Parts: sequence; C-alpha cells; structure tokens
Amino acid sequence: MTALTILGIESSCDDTAAAVLRGQAGAAEVLSSVVLSQTDLHASFGGVVPEIAARAHAEKLDICVRQALEQSGLGLEAIDAVAVTAGPGLIGGVVSGVMCAKGIALARNRPLYGVNHLAGHALTPRLTDGVAFPYLMLLVSGGHCQFLIVSGPDDFRRLGGTIDDAPGEAFDKVARLIALPQPGGPSIEARAKFGDAKRFKLPRPLLDRAGCDMSFSGLKTAVLRQRDSLLVDGALAAQDQADLAASFQAAVVDVLAEKTRRALVEYATLTNMRSICVAGGVAANMAIRGALKNVAAEFNASFIAPPLALCTDNAAMIAYAALEQMGTRAPDGMTLSARPRWPLDQTAPAMLGSGKKGAKA
Ligand code: KG4
Ligand code: ZN
Repeated sequence: MTALTILGIESSCDDTAAAVLRGQAGAAEVLSSVVLSQTDLHASFGGVVPEIAARAHAEKLDICVRQALEQSGLGLEAIDAVAVTAGPGLIGGVVSGVMCAKGIALARNRPLYGVNHLAGHALTPRLTDGVAFPYLMLLVSGGHCQFLIVSGPDDFRRLGGTIDDAPGEAFDKVARLIALPQPGGPSIEARAKFGDAKRFKLPRPLLDRAGCDMSFSGLKTAVLRQRDSLLVDGALAAQDQADLAASFQAAVVDVLAEKTRRALVEYATLTNMRSICVAGGVAANMAIRGALKNVAAEFNASFIAPPLALCTDNAAMIAYAALEQMGTRAPDGMTLSARPRWPLDQTAPAMLGSGKKGAKA
C-alpha cells in the first residue's frame, strides 16, 4: 500500500480539531494536529452546553482546517482522503464536522470516511507505538469508560464499562463539590498530593460484582455526604479538602486497577498477546497510570500510554482510524450521516444514561 495523506476532522464534544496525517496502517506520521478548545465558553455553566458547542464548532472548523493544512505545509490538493468523526457525540457538533468534511470532499473530489470517535481513541496505540492486534484497551475520559479487546481496525469486543458516570465526569463533579477548579481531574490530582488517602472510607463500587462493569456516581454521592459533615460555616478546611481529594482518587484508582485485573484475565483466555493500552484524558493521572502499570507487570503485559496530546480528543486519531479501515471498507460518500450513539461493539448490550459530555457509547 502506498503512503496516503489524510485530512482528519473531529468535533464530537468540546474540542474543534483538524489534523493532517501521512503514511499507511501501522506506519503513519502526524504532519499537523490542531485542537481549538472550547473550555472557556462552557466554564461558567459547569458542563458542556450542546448548543454553544455546536455553534462554536461551526464557527471554528474552517479556521482549524486551514491551520492544520498550513502547519503541515500542504495544500488541499495534496489530500488523498477526508476522514471525519461521524459519532458518537453531541449531535450538533458531529453534524458540523460531517458537513465541513462533505464540503471539502465534494469540492476536491476525494473519498470521505466517517469514523467512530471511539475507534479513533482505540486505534491510537497503533499510531503512536505500532502495537500489534489483539490488545486490551482501557478508554477513560470525561465521556467514556470501557474495556475493549481490539483485534482489527473494525473489530472491537467490549468487556465492560461504566453503568453511569465516566471517571472524568466523576473527577469534575467531585472537584465542584469540594470547591476545586475545572477541569476537576488535574486539580484533584494536584490537591491529593497533600492529602491522606486513608482518612475517609469511600466505597469501591461494583467490586463485589463479577466482571468488568464499573460505576462512579455512588462514589460522588459518598464524597458529597462526607463533605457535608465537614463543612464549617459553609466552607471546607484546606486539609479536609486535600484528604477528600486523596481519598476519592484512591477509590477510583482501586476500582480501575481491580477491573483492569479482571479484564486482563479475560483477555488472557483469548490470546497469547499481552498488551494493555490506555487512552482518554483520565489516563493523564499519574496515580492511575502507576497503578495500571503495576497491574500490567503482574500479568507480564506491556503497558502503553500514548502521549497526552494523542490520548485526549484530537483529529489525528480520526485520520489514522480511516487509514487503518480503508483497506477493508469502501468510503462513505455524501450519504454519510451523523450518529449521536454508535457503540463500537454492536453485539454488547447498550449502555445506560447520557453523560455531561454527551451520549455514552
Ligand atoms: O479525553 P478528554 O480530554 O475529553 C473527553 O472527555 O472526551 O478527557 C477530559 C476528562 C475531564 O473529565 C478531566 O477532568 C479528565 O479527563 N482529566 C483527568 C486528568 N486530566 C484530565 N482526570 C484525572 N486526572 C487527571 N490528571
Ligand atoms: Zn474522546
């Protein structure tokens, strides 16, 4: 297969992203990756507002694509195919991206590939580290949380996932409860360094249940109760805040570590391969990374965590997923539609609920 140049577009949540990638499956280079964050626009609302997100994507997509092309040193005429996130996500944003990609593909007469956002995350370890199939993937972000066995560019088996909140969502909500700034993950991690993780006995939800499903919303409620018992004149003492942050983070670490152990056991029954990969914003957390690395070592498995810029939402992963998938499927063309829900593993039962950052898949 000859090297191809792909333009990727991503707009399924609160980041407008475009990237140019060149290469082939298993050997591609990111020529540019631009991410325009909307964090400031949503900050005062305490979560992503879908209508504001959709408008901001519509306003920024062309600017973002232009920047990605400029940084790659290429013009649109050098693009061989256009890849775009076609779901799952906040539908207004996904529609904006799909319309932008259709316009470019039609104007330049290039093939158009609609990509599942989660496939983008799940295939990233092949872009960054050339990991061989089949590998185990833990996807942990503000909107997603699931274990997948990735056996091919379009072959995903879901072993389990959250039945309510995603871990990033729990970090963000707990940060709000204990008066730490958004995004909650980094601020809780920083505060937890000064706290006693053993002071509060918070629950480890669903560890008593077999399998890899997880739950994080009860943990958040437990933090709320504990906080209420500590408030003095409506405020939390600095040490109480640090101890709550540390105790909460330790509970998330324990749940993710134990469920990863179970996922590795299941993975080991299917293959001799031993690779566990993580992706998503929560994978930035050093306590979580450290615990997962230790669990991987228990199983003699290699632990792969892509660099943070490619762990969080970006368009290089969308371009790369298209590059992987184009060997086995036809382009989508102008009939491509945006999908709010799009589970990677069509055989797994549907997930419950809908997170702050959009539909969970
Ligand atoms: O993957 P991402 O950038 O966006 C999507 O959710 O798609 O993930 C963002 C989430 C936020 O909820 C944020 O609080 C969390 O990742 N996060 C962290 C850390 N850094 C970001 N959670 C825990 N520890 C961190 N250091
Ligand atoms: Zn994502």
